[in-house]
Amino acid sequence: MSLDHFRMAEEPFYTPVAGEIALFEAAFHEHVPLMLKGPTGCGKTRFVEHMAWRLRRPLVTIACHEDMTAADLVGRYLLEAEGTVWRDGPLTEAVRHGAICYLDEIVEARQDTTVVIHPLTDERRVLPLDKRNELVAAHPDFFLVISYNPGYQSAVKDLKESTKQRFAAIDFGYAEPAREAAIVAQEAGIAVEVAEKLVRIAIASRNLGGHGLEEGASTRTLIRTGKLVARGIALADACDMAIVAPLTDDRDTRGALRSVVSACL
Ligand SMILES: Nc1ncnc2c1ncn2[C@@H]1O[C@H](COP(=O)(O)OP(=O)(O)OP(=O)(O)O)[C@@H](O)[C@H]1O
Ligand SMILES: [Mg+2]
Repeated sequence: MSLDHFRMAEEPFYTPVAGEIALFEAAFHEHVPLMLKGPTGCGKTRFVEHMAWRLRRPLVTIACHEDMTAADLVGRYLLEAEGTVWRDGPLTEAVRHGAICYLDEIVEARQDTTVVIHPLTDERRVLPLDKRNELVAAHPDFFLVISYNPGYQSAVKDLKESTKQRFAAIDFGYAEPAREAAIVAQEAGIAVEVAEKLVRIAIASRNLGGHGLEEGASTRTLIRTGKLVARGIALADACDMAIVAPLTDDRDTRGALRSVVSACL
């Protein structure tokens, strides 16, 4: 088993925003685990997919959640027809076979789950499987990446200091306007002029922060809007459906957003 089904068959489209490709490559080769910080829909997942393709490594993605246990990551004994058998979890598979392991939304996991990555992310680079009494040494190409949205962190839901300090971090933001418009045009299949209007709306919505909006419209939101437009939906309707309505239920904030949209169209 070589995790071949976790390899990218084609190059995932990715437009670099700054020097993040070189930073990722250096961290990968030096075994410095990486934390990608940034708001929702700004390209973190796409970037990791692109880097897995570039470095020709399989990519194992794990969406972290509150009920995730250490066993969900490392594996467990299962009762099967032939008796009790050990099944590696996704993290263990990545460690053994030299994959890039991407723990998405790491703060959602409980801290007692998160600590299983500690011995992997310091000089030891090992994963203890306590139940099996086995110490798995990481494959030289194993690489751990986590994502973290600093926007909506509460004190209860934050990473332990001892977890944070095992990672180097790259800050992600939305691409500058011309580049973001090019990304939206490409991904949604719409004209750049239309994408530019959407980006103007997004920038204005991002500046509404504090007026009832947690985060403004993301690049992902703009791509979704653009796809509706490409399907023949009028731009104003697409904006209402894919930007205004999902972002807020508050009447005043909706009003403010709608004015932003009409001003930009
Ligand atoms: N630099 C970029 N190059 C190419 N596509 C991009 C880029 N940035 C964003 N995108 C597009 O935006 C979409 C959303 O990005 P992605 O899913 O990577 O966001 P994310 O940062 O992982 O968000 P979340 O925190 O919600 O998981 C992607 O599917 C891709 O189409
Ligand atoms: Mg993501």
